[in-house]
Amino acid sequence: MQTPESMDETSSKLAVPYKSAGDIGQGRGVFISTYGCQMNVNDTERMYSILEMANFVPVQSPEQATLILINACSVRETPVQKVYSEAGRYRKLRLKNPALKVGVGGCVGQQEKGNLIKNSDMIDFVFGTDTIDQLPDLVSKVFAGNDDLINARFEHRAAYHVETLVRNPGISTFVNVTKGCDNFCTFCVVPYTRGREKSRPLAHVLDDIHKLVARGVKEVTVLGQNVNSYSSDCGADFADLLERIAQESGLQRLRFTTSHPKDFNQKLAKVMFRNQPIICEYIHLPFQSGNSRILQLMNRNYTRGEYLDRIKMIRDSIPNVIFSTDIIVGFPTETEEEFQDTISLVQEVGAETIFAFKYSPRPFTKAARFEGQVPEDIKSDRLNRLFDAHDKMAFELVKRYEGQVFDVLVEGFNPARGTLNGRSSHNKLTHFVGDLSLIGQTVPVRISKAFPATFRGELVLRNQDLIL
Ligand code: 5AD
Ligand code: SF4
Repeated sequence: MQTPESMDETSSKLAVPYKSAGDIGQGRGVFISTYGCQMNVNDTERMYSILEMANFVPVQSPEQATLILINACSVRETPVQKVYSEAGRYRKLRLKNPALKVGVGGCVGQQEKGNLIKNSDMIDFVFGTDTIDQLPDLVSKVFAGNDDLINARFEHRAAYHVETLVRNPGISTFVNVTKGCDNFCTFCVVPYTRGREKSRPLAHVLDDIHKLVARGVKEVTVLGQNVNSYSSDCGADFADLLERIAQESGLQRLRFTTSHPKDFNQKLAKVMFRNQPIICEYIHLPFQSGNSRILQLMNRNYTRGEYLDRIKMIRDSIPNVIFSTDIIVGFPTETEEEFQDTISLVQEVGAETIFAFKYSPRPFTKAARFEGQVPEDIKSDRLNRLFDAHDKMAFELVKRYEGQVFDVLVEGFNPARGTLNGRSSHNKLTHFVGDLSLIGQTVPVRISKAFPATFRGELVLRNQDLIL
């Protein structure tokens, strides 16, 4: 473990090339269109921040922009066609503003590289998931008249040294702690679009979170494709990282996503329990399939029985824990009986929220080449039956929350509903009536109606409120 002094030294060595970006943007408007996961949304924030430092001005619509970036994810579908049609829609804008430049990034940029430029005369340049920090340099070349630039190399050898860049972090925000993935689940494109797994140094993460807390952030979700295999140069593992953040940062709440069952150990469960309520008792733990043969074909590195053992270990350590999960139906060769194992695992685990998807063959992945691809109509039917079975269970399961009081961190006001909204520590989006001054505070709310992912409730007046 590092001493505080050596951590400071590491922090000051952060490589931040974009900070010297100067006036490349010359006040031009930049618009970024984003599709995909939280990781992509976070990357978009990073792109806006870096380009802002280079004197671009973020704008609300493509019509106001001289630089448009399309940041597209390819985990579950092929959005390449969407990217081409979106780029095509900007043709009208280019007629009005011939200086307009369009670039494509994210997983699609990483995956498609030069094809994008070959197939669309509207796409001027391409960048990858690992070259976001080089955007000012790339964009300056584009505006200097260089066409068809592609910067989508992986920096395989470079350490993962970045600074969290968010423009308006609000009450709750995200901090990347790992990038990439080395697990190579046979259905998943991430190891190809995000590269090898790397962790940021513990000191850098702590430093970022301190700065966010100073800007008013109360809750951070630490992010990684396989976040609990985090391993800092100083020897800290994921449990150490969480404990240090919980104890040193001044955050009210700490969450993390996404964990892999094989890396969820007893130490992590114990750290979560002993740092409640700062570390929230909610775990997103994808199992993908309830059948051990399919899990093996998926290269998930656990069986159904081992997943259930993990759940038991976690429940024994954290009695009030709540789980959600990701599921894929219709993986190649999945039979009806094997699909039934998935339904029964959802029930056995009692997952209150599920994110379920039809298997979709992804480029480069092993499973895309497997024999026995399941027809689309069977996949759709299985997905519908899974959601039905889950609904039946989850609506019953969450009724026990009605009448209970939970602490809710208030994040905002919904004018359409006239209610405040925030999350309970076990991650239920909770709506209730209250004063705007409560935004940013953690308040007790009695649940009047519980749905699997959301609650309606009433603010509980505290003793001092009653006296006043
Ligand atoms: N087909 C369907 N779902 C997928 N996911 C990842 N790859 C695929 C694919 N090829 C789902 C998994 C993962 C989530 C982020 O997306 O359930 O956990
Ligand atoms: Fe993809 Fe598997 Fe890595 Fe998750 S753990 S990002 S599903 S390869």
